[in-house]
Amino acid sequence: MSTARRKLLLMGKSGSGKTSMRSVIFSNYSAKDTKRLGATIDVEQSAVRFLGSLVLNLWDCGGQNAFVDNYLTAQKDTIFANVAVLIYVFDITSTEWDVDLKYFEEIVTALRENSGDARVWVLINKMDLADKEDPKRTKYGTRKADIVGVDERVGKGKGELRCFPTSIWDESLYKAWSSVVHTLIPNIGLITSHLTFLRDLCLAVEAVVFETDTFLVIAKSGSPLDGDSSTLDEREVAGNAKVLDRQRFEKISEIVKGFRKTCQRNGEQWVGFESTFDECKVVLEPLTKNTFILVVSVDPIIEVGMLQYNIRESQLHFS
Ligand code: GTP
Repeated sequence: MSTARRKLLLMGKSGSGKTSMRSVIFSNYSAKDTKRLGATIDVEQSAVRFLGSLVLNLWDCGGQNAFVDNYLTAQKDTIFANVAVLIYVFDITSTEWDVDLKYFEEIVTALRENSGDARVWVLINKMDLADKEDPKRTKYGTRKADIVGVDERVGKGKGELRCFPTSIWDESLYKAWSSVVHTLIPNIGLITSHLTFLRDLCLAVEAVVFETDTFLVIAKSGSPLDGDSSTLDEREVAGNAKVLDRQRFEKISEIVKGFRKTCQRNGEQWVGFESTFDECKVVLEPLTKNTFILVVSVDPIIEVGMLQYNIRESQLHFS
């Protein structure tokens, strides 16, 4: 299979949390470790291989004013050419919202001139600091409306813009970054249809694929519990009063990464997970060289061994 290369720009004001996010997702840092990070000087480029067939070229652009001014002038043609996704990070606690928005506007303008159909993912970060005083997230709502307004004005409907509230301290970070990579995987439609087939074959309710190193969610089977798998909104499960957690898979990403780090520290290797409680059977194990799969069944006749057998038999289709 040929390799697809995608350029991702990571931008936003100094201190908003860009390098912290990159380090937590791609370099196994804990949120606490990020306190040691210094400011990024100019642009730090890194290449991350995904699933064997996708390489993400990540440009982490230091956010100090002098660097940003340079991106918008001397380096404009280099920085903004051939961009697949701009990930723009705002700090929800910033006290200079008008200035932040002005910079965002200038960057989106430069992006649209050079990479017209690039997607824009806006992450409004450090939500952990805002949530205590504003649990209903009113501030997030107004910030998001301002950002959408800027994009409509300068982007004129080109490309796509999505906003996510994030914090490096919880699973919201995985939710946002999973959404970024999900849209970049070349054969995602095929992976998702194989996954749905496997889920139905196992009489399961959920089947989810994670990337092995980052544990980002790559594909979801579109569980009947969810309806639309792209939004994962909370909703009532038919015949069951339980409300699903809309970030449940990203919670698993965070837990597994934390647990795997503990195992490494103790010289152990984490290889997977299986469990049976009440009528629920859960299997989380390697699917291919680059992926893990989670299958959940609530059917009383299904055994864990049968889920594992089907997963192993299906491996060829996902390679
Ligand atoms: P430049 O490299 O100067 O552009 O900054 P940056 O955007 O890369 O910021 P960086 O990742 O260095 O983060 C600055 C500080 O913010 C660090 O001390 C992080 O620990 C902290 N930080 C990042 N994300 C969060 C978050 O979600 N919540 C909280 N509370 N702190 C965060």
